[in-house]
Formats: sequence, structure tokens, C-alpha cells
Amino acid sequence: MTEGESGLPAGGACGATSVAGVPSLVPGAGIPQVDVHSHLIPGVDDGARDEAMALVMLRVAAADGTRIIAATPHAGEVHPEAIPGAVRRLNELARAAEIPIEVIPGCEYKLSRALGDEHKLGRLMTLNGTPYVLVELPDWNQWPNSVGESIASLRDDGLWPVLAHPERHPPVQRCPELVLEAVQGGALVQLNASSLLGYNGREAQRAAVLLLTARAAHLIASDAHHPEARPPRVSAALARAAALAGEEYVRWMRGAAMRIVTGEPVELPEPDLEALRLRESWLERIRDWLANP
Ligand SMILES: [Fe+2]
Repeated sequence: MTEGESGLPAGGACGATSVAGVPSLVPGAGIPQVDVHSHLIPGVDDGARDEAMALVMLRVAAADGTRIIAATPHAGEVHPEAIPGAVRRLNELARAAEIPIEVIPGCEYKLSRALGDEHKLGRLMTLNGTPYVLVELPDWNQWPNSVGESIASLRDDGLWPVLAHPERHPPVQRCPELVLEAVQGGALVQLNASSLLGYNGREAQRAAVLLLTARAAHLIASDAHHPEARPPRVSAALARAAALAGEEYVRWMRGAAMRIVTGEPVELPEPDLEALRLRESWLERIRDWLANP
């Protein structure tokens, strides 16, 4: 068993379960709350500005019940080799401030089959050194034809892509079924907590709810950039997810997040195609708009 930069094992049982927990109202409270997506590393991208802000973000995350949080800066804006040292420093700061949270390394890459070559060269910053790698669509306004091909290629290279916040992209908002190509190719799908709660607009929320209830979304993460404006909180979204998709599914999602950071395989549920194709009528949308303009 190898160890990740945080001291968490990168495969097998997780040492972080010993960190003192806080009671949680969301299902699966016995499973440590894991957030696989955040921009905590100071001064490298549009996330935490400095160490003081990163520390406040860690406090906010811990108060929300998160015990393990991945620092996943944008790949184009940071040298991946700088990430482990930055994560070590964040863990030192958290320990000194007695914040009960463990930071693990990661990186948010643009989806491309070339990531497989980086992986073979040992240069890919996966989530805590596991086969799971956080990827986002390369273009905000386009669902590329190559998504399925890229995911299949990464799977062949021994990686397990985690697709970040597809619900935020306009093509997915117009046509949520697009995400099936990623799921059926073997990717996990991560929703932003803020999307599910409506902070990224009505269209992102609709897509998030549809993907969740169709079991075509497998994780909820914060994608935190700031302690208040884009905070590292997931518990309210998990509670909302339990109301929408059932407590059992949220327990499964919490377990899946834990398995990811410990490098264990995750068996994905079969997506409900009918639920995904179910669209609100224009009349319902107009009624919704009139109620909440
Ligand atoms: Fe992000």
C-alpha cells in the first residue's frame, strides 16, 4: 500500500476515519465526508488568494463536516509537481490551527486522451495518487465529439476519469442526455453542490437535478474557490440530494467518494434513461419562472 501526500493510504482502508467527526444530518453520517474538488492552494489559480484565505476555507469545510478535501487547482495554471508540497503545507497549517481536516492532492485537467501519456510518464496528478483523475470538458460551450473516445482511452490507460460539473455547461443544460456518453464510457460524474442548490442558475440546477435523479451523477463536491462566494460546503447539497434521490443513494455517493480517495473500485449504478429524458414542458417552465422570476 502506498501513501498519498496527505498521509492517507492511496489504496485500502483510510487512516483519516480516526479524525474526530462532527454529527451530520445527511445520510451516511458514519462515512467521513469527502470533497473531491476545491481550489484551496493559495495563489496559483482563481481559488484561495493566500494562506490566510486557504485556512479560512479549511475551517469552513471542517465546520460543514468535511474530513477529507482534495486540492485540485486548474492544470494550466500550476506546475503539477508543485502540488504535493503545497498540500503538505496546507496540512501543516490545518494541524497547527487544530482544524480536523485532511487535504489530499489532485488537479483539475481538461479532458484529453493525452492525459494517459502523462500518466505513463508518472506526471499526472491524480486524486491522492489513485487511478481517479478529475477532468472537465475542454470547452465551456461545446460537448466535443471525442468525449466517449477520450474517456475510453483513459480507461485503457488505467485511469478512471471523474467528470467535473457537466451541469454547468450550456450544451448539457440543453441536453442532459449528453452526459450518458461519459457515464457509459466509464466515467464518474461530479455535480457542484452550488448547482444543486440553485446558485449557478436555474438551468444548471435543472440539469443537476435531472442527472442526480437519473443516477447519472455519482458525486457532489464543492469546487470551492472562496470561503463565502464559492464556499467549501457540501452537506446542504447532500441533504437536498437525499430528498431528491433518496437516502440510500446519498449513502452510496458518500461511500463512493471515500472509495475514490482510497483508490478502491466503484461500481456505478445503471442510469435511468427514462428519467434523464423526462423534460419539463414549456408550460411548467413558464410557471416556474413566474413563481421565481
Ligand atoms: Fe474547479
